[in-house]
Amino acid sequence: MRSLLTHSFVHTLCSLSALAVKIPFHVSSSGIEETTPHVPRQSSSSGTVPVGNTQNTFYYANVTLGGRQISVMLDTGSSDLWVTGSVPGAQDTGKSVTLSYAVGNAAGNIHTAPFQFDGYTVQDQAFLLVTNTSSFSTNIHAEGYDGLIGLGPNSGSTIYKKLSGDTGNSAINRIFQQSPSSSNNYLTLMLNRRGDPGNLITGQFTMSEVVPGFENITSQPQLAVEKVYKVTDEDQHWQILTDQGVGIIGPDGQPIQVSSIVPKAPDGQLVVVLDSGFTLPQVPRSMSDAIYGRVQGAEWSTSSQAWLVPCGQLINVTFNFGGVSYPVHPLDVSSSDFNVAFSNGSPACLGTFQPISSAFSLLGEYDMILGMAFLRNVYTLINFGNLVEGGSNSNNPYIQLLSLTDEAAAVNDFIQVRTNGENLINTSQYALLPASQEQHSPETAAEKKAQYEEEVLSHWPYILAGCLVFLVLLIGYCIWRCCCRRKRLAKKKATQQKQGIVSGGGNNGTYAQLQDSGSTATLAMQPMRGSTLDFKHEYAKDAFATHA
Ligand SMILES: *[C@@H]1O[C@H](CO)[C@@H](O)[C@H](O)[C@H]1NC(C)=O
Ligand SMILES: *[C@@H]1O[C@H](CO)[C@@H](O)[C@H](O)[C@H]1NC(C)=O
Ligand SMILES: *[C@@H]1O[C@H](CO)[C@@H](O)[C@H](O)[C@H]1NC(C)=O
Ligand SMILES: *[C@@H]1O[C@H](CO)[C@@H](O)[C@H](O)[C@H]1NC(C)=O
Ligand SMILES: *[C@@H]1O[C@H](CO)[C@@H](O)[C@H](O)[C@H]1NC(C)=O
Repeated sequence: MRSLLTHSFVHTLCSLSALAVKIPFHVSSSGIEETTPHVPRQSSSSGTVPVGNTQNTFYYANVTLGGRQISVMLDTGSSDLWVTGSVPGAQDTGKSVTLSYAVGNAAGNIHTAPFQFDGYTVQDQAFLLVTNTSSFSTNIHAEGYDGLIGLGPNSGSTIYKKLSGDTGNSAINRIFQQSPSSSNNYLTLMLNRRGDPGNLITGQFTMSEVVPGFENITSQPQLAVEKVYKVTDEDQHWQILTDQGVGIIGPDGQPIQVSSIVPKAPDGQLVVVLDSGFTLPQVPRSMSDAIYGRVQGAEWSTSSQAWLVPCGQLINVTFNFGGVSYPVHPLDVSSSDFNVAFSNGSPACLGTFQPISSAFSLLGEYDMILGMAFLRNVYTLINFGNLVEGGSNSNNPYIQLLSLTDEAAAVNDFIQVRTNGENLINTSQYALLPASQEQHSPETAAEKKAQYEEEVLSHWPYILAGCLVFLVLLIGYCIWRCCCRRKRLAKKKATQQKQGIVSGGGNNGTYAQLQDSGSTATLAMQPMRGSTLDFKHEYAKDAFATHA
């Protein structure tokens, strides 16, 4: 069960946050370098932490563990801290853990060491010390980081589950537990865009305060974090609902209509996970097709499992949350950061909104994962609320987003970068094809199977409830039958007693038995619940095995 749980946990989503590294291409080293100067560190309180950026593909920041400064990838989609190399003075707990990421296995023992981040200190932070990186497919150090810090809810931490009590709580959770004001248990994240001459954003991360000049984020709508079922809370992510009917506006200015696979989602809304560990946003296939399928010359790339489009094609996509529009910069909708080419060899740009297949939610917990290409367009605030383990805040967690993309300015940046300053946006070459000529990307057999499994698995609470109702009815019926029989027998007995055939004394036992049947129903629930979970995890494992 343990290993299955870990396996599924790892394979569902959290792990795949490292899909960043799964992308089967290398980022090109050409491209415009960042020109924006770094905002000086604020002298008041803990200030902000600068966020590094390797080719818009990895975002990381420095933490200190055992006195050693380590660059770690910032991942809102997972909840564990792991580092490679050595950590001075680290205490070995003797407990080993393997976290499977697309880049390879992060395996080793859980250690504890003094930890510092953003001016906060935790004396004995638990983390995974990865000593063997031979299974990593890329040199992560060369990509700018030597580990990863999970910024997700504590319930998703494997280390937390492995150690007893609260000792394994995630780093962010530990800092919040120490905080004097639980209403300030939030973090904020701002990611810069390389290769964009108009980018005025500096990558920054903060805890319990906002980046100066962006205070307005606190007056943005508070988007409720969509909670998953209690029994699967290891799969809880920072997920929110899109606006009803108009959640995503496509390149033709019309809403893209896709139904949610999440049984709990209200009609016309989609469940979106915000995950800074994904380079490419993962969206339903029909949505990816609606974004790129009407572009002239668009080509589906089997090797990249993504659309390729001409780099000069401006593609307009806008997300709506809480009644606010969040336009996506056209430089983010198609990316020149990857060396991709059309089948005829001419250079192409990669459609960043990739069909969700390897990160598909088998339990139907979310519809899409908005990674870095989306997150660059918003300043993100995540208030952990009652998801802080051992915290005193009883409020529900929420997310606030402040748009960072000015549409008109973005169009100008695009023209400068992609068509050498020549405005070709409205030329016939770049006109969208009519909807009837939209191309569709091929669905694999494995995907069809996964979708079928999702249909069954995501409805398991309802199936379980149905079974329980049936069971209760069945037991009720049995009790009723027994009662009737007993009554009849009792009547018979009474008659017989009257006739002096049988002596009394069996009545107490009869009562005890009756009460017992009540608790039999309760007991029956336990194994059923357990086996449902086993089924789920085995299923998840099986389905994901094909992707591993
Ligand atoms: C991390 O610290 C090193 C050494 O001080 C520094 O060179 C690097 O720029 C820092 N990284 C970030 C993302 O701030
Ligand atoms: C490191 O892990 C690989 C498999 O991932 C294994 O083959 C190798 O023996 C390990 N090396 C050490 C020193 O443990
Ligand atoms: C911040 O919000 C106030 C009030 O909503 C508004 O007047 C102001 O223009 C906003 N500033 C920015 C930078 O968005
Ligand atoms: C992009 O879409 C938005 C929202 O539909 C629209 O307001 C805007 O005019 C569009 N921009 C371009 C360049 O098509
Ligand atoms: C394209 O045409 C539309 C409608 O005529 C206009 O509103 C828009 O500004 C034009 N876009 C550019 C980038 O010139």
